[in-house]
Amino acid sequence: MPDALYFNGRFTTTDERVLGVEDRGFQFGDAIYEVFKFLQKRPIFMLDHFRRLQQGLHDIDISIPWTPDSFATTVEELLRRTKFDAGIVYVQVSRGEGERAHFYPDNMKPTALAYTRKFNFPDAAKKERGIRLITTGDQRWQQCCVKSVNLLANAMAKKKAQRAGADEALLLDEGFVREGASSSFFAIRGGRLVTHPLDEHILPGVVRDHAISLALAAKIRVDERPVREAELFDMDEAFITSTTQGIMPVAEIDGRVIGNARRGEITEELQRMFDEEEEAQSNP
Ligand code: PDD
Repeated sequence: MPDALYFNGRFTTTDERVLGVEDRGFQFGDAIYEVFKFLQKRPIFMLDHFRRLQQGLHDIDISIPWTPDSFATTVEELLRRTKFDAGIVYVQVSRGEGERAHFYPDNMKPTALAYTRKFNFPDAAKKERGIRLITTGDQRWQQCCVKSVNLLANAMAKKKAQRAGADEALLLDEGFVREGASSSFFAIRGGRLVTHPLDEHILPGVVRDHAISLALAAKIRVDERPVREAELFDMDEAFITSTTQGIMPVAEIDGRVIGNARRGEITEELQRMFDEEEEAQSNP
């Protein structure tokens, strides 16, 4: 079934082939993307995602084709045209289309698109069971805070995880855990959360941010420092966060069981608080 698509100022469906072969997003990965969820046709944490898109485009010197208001209107119309109630919105803004050259002209007209997709969000059983991780080297570039569409290293790491029967790859670099191939990572030890600080090594995850705020609201201490590789097998609990997975317990890393092989108490509490926050956004 074709999904609703916004492309450069008009609405169509994803079975229209809209992108030119010389679009710089396609040829150079010269683009920023976002993924956010919608539930009951309502966007979840949309403004957080818009702000990150705005920052990423600013960082790579592409002008943003929306204001917060025009973005909200675009998303509203996209969801109105969508035939299902829950899923994800994928947004991408590239530098634009033009004769292939590494040197790009100033003031190119950005290509802006957004479309909706059905998505199977984790059910209650999976949220309790958690996921398996493998560890692998972080092969990404040195500006991981920018959500660019250059996802080759992430895709390779993810495939490696899948081949090993796992769900996610934890990216290690210089003896530190950076983040998952498509998620943020949290360790829990002695009742405290530990997660990588915001810098060029990780994406500033929207769910990461909410998880930290919820933890602080619940009087749980949060240490923003990189987890050392050597600490990985000395944790009481661990979880990953992402738009599609929410707060998801980690059951195993490289085949070794984390904690006491069940979803930990702190993870469960934060998961419940986060689900309530999402629920409130979809039911204002
Ligand atoms: N991925 N780190 C990386 C490298 C990611 O790709 C993602 C999200 C996250 C979590 O960010 P957030 O909480 O804002 O979703 C962290 C999205 C879902 C994706 O690429 O599909």
